Amino acid sequence: MQDIANSHLFSPFTLGGVTLPNRIVIAPMQMYEAEDGFANDWHLAHLGRFAIARAGLVFTEVLCVEPRGRSTYRDCGIWKDEHIAPLGRIAELLRRCGSVPGAQIGHCGPKAARQKPWDGLRPLGAEDAARGEPPWTPVASTAEPSAEGYHVPAALTLAEIAAVVDAFGQGARRVAAAGFDVLDIHAAHGYLIHTFLSPVANKRTDAYGGDRHGRMRFALEVAAAVRANFPAPKPILFRLSCIDRVDSGWDMADTLVLAAELRARGIDAIDCSSGGIRGANSLAVFDKIGGPPPGYQVPFAAEIRSRLGMPTMAVGLITEPAHAEDILAQGQADLVAIGREALYDPNWPLHAAIALAGKPDNQRQFGYWPPNYGWWLQYRERQQARRPAR
Ligand SMILES: Cc1cc2nc3c(=O)[nH]c(=O)nc-3n(C[C@H](O)[C@H](O)[C@H](O)COP(=O)(O)O)c2cc1C
Repeated sequence: MQDIANSHLFSPFTLGGVTLPNRIVIAPMQMYEAEDGFANDWHLAHLGRFAIARAGLVFTEVLCVEPRGRSTYRDCGIWKDEHIAPLGRIAELLRRCGSVPGAQIGHCGPKAARQKPWDGLRPLGAEDAARGEPPWTPVASTAEPSAEGYHVPAALTLAEIAAVVDAFGQGARRVAAAGFDVLDIHAAHGYLIHTFLSPVANKRTDAYGGDRHGRMRFALEVAAAVRANFPAPKPILFRLSCIDRVDSGWDMADTLVLAAELRARGIDAIDCSSGGIRGANSLAVFDKIGGPPPGYQVPFAAEIRSRLGMPTMAVGLITEPAHAEDILAQGQADLVAIGREALYDPNWPLHAAIALAGKPDNQRQFGYWPPNYGWWLQYRERQQARRPAR
């Protein structure tokens, strides 16, 4: 039998000064259950399930650093000190179960003021106002909508840029105060930071626009403000859309330059996503092959890791334990993040432990499971094994 202690997926990983018990990360996923930005028992139960299932690192959904940076009225926030206490309960629960508690902070920029996905994801309008959810004016690098029909955002002034950088710093301070050990900065998916990075979104003519150096300025200022308020050795990841997948967009060469600059400012790892700028369906390129293939974003994590020697996290359609193991074994990433598959199977890490251990004499091994579950299941397994074969 294979011992999962020899697997890559279940080997510990030290990032900054924090050691994760395994390489399985639960990706940040918005639940649209908060009121006034406050996390509540939904978030506690939802995230707690992944910690009971022994994920090495569990991220909260994006915590918005400003109210106007929320994608919907039901986003979680981190813009006031009162948000700390309920998040603190979550961090404590995750740690108690043996997971490392992580939080993501961000600002949705021009993708703010929308309906929840299951209400249509459209920009808030008159009907929403009538039921008590009036739209507000989102902000971005440039006063252009993220997609046709979306709100026209206001371009941030220089004074506002400084205020938003400070809001990221204060958000990081609150995340640390809530007891989280790892932080992820959301700079992907067409959100605020991405609108500064991408040449198709950033049309500014001041110091925050123009060439790559100018377009990176805001991201690097945010990184420095967050690092100052979330002190080393606690690690910080930076989630990037490594490529825009649109003509003349941000590409891998840009990502490599930015990643090196981020590392110089104390960022520990890159969380490798893609797309989302200008609202276009950037995954449409995969239509001719029936949609994005498993691990379609892994090559970005692999390239950063091999070219810069910087730790990376791979995410996106990683659903099979053997695939996750292979990504790590091939040195394509240091961590694998599971998103939707964890919604389908919150016990994914525990099932991965069984799958990777193999099944000698057809008996499943529950040794990695918390004993509260595993003892009983192993007992049942032994009982079942004694039944005569029919
Ligand atoms: C319900 C849901 C909410 C999400 N919310 C966030 C979020 O808050 N921050 C973020 O960076 N990505 C978010 N994502 C993207 C995921 O983190 C992940 O990158 C994406 O789902 C691809 O991984 P998967 O194929 O394993 O689901 C969300 C995805 C889903 C399905």
